[in-house]
Amino acid sequence: DRDALAALIASRLRDVPDFPKPGVVFKDFTPLLADPVAMRAIVDDAVARYSGEVDVIAGIEARGFMIGTAVAVALGVPFVPIRKKGKLPAATFTASYDLEYGTETIEVHQDSCREGQRVLVMDDVLATGGTAAAACELIERTGAQVVALDVVCEIGFLRGRERLGGHRVRSLLSI
Ligand code: PRP
Repeated sequence: DRDALAALIASRLRDVPDFPKPGVVFKDFTPLLADPVAMRAIVDDAVARYSGEVDVIAGIEARGFMIGTAVAVALGVPFVPIRKKGKLPAATFTASYDLEYGTETIEVHQDSCREGQRVLVMDDVLATGGTAAAACELIERTGAQVVALDVVCEIGFLRGRERLGGHRVRSLLSI
């Protein structure tokens, strides 16, 4: 059930203090990736939830690629990467958002999705929501529609959901 899945995920996230800088506790996703039983449970849950409801999975660099590709293959739908600026070779749409210091820019290929396609946006963590909001904006610029934002883990007190406007947000674990 959902509580058991949340507990399994929680047990596979490692807190690393002072990474990438002092005072930040980083949620390390690598023990989860290293556990195929836990990964299978996440994929099965996503398939049960979204089968027949999505035409494309879009994953956000870098850990959104890992979870998103696994789910896309299981659903039998295309996977679209949303990447940091300068990595995608063909024509892109670009969106920028504020970080604590400075800005970040992400991109998607202009021809990655078609008008009217139903897209599920996936990532590992929803923190302030800046990345996810920019990703949803990029998908909408292709003409496709965002079905939901789906993340493994949501940092509740940062209120990332509130930056996502009207989009549906689903997290497997809220901390
Ligand atoms: C992390 C995480 C999300 C984003 C969440 O990525 O994987 O994509 O930050 O933060 P936000 O909700 O405050 O925007 P990161 O920037 O560390 O990139 P990486 O996965 O390429 O290392």
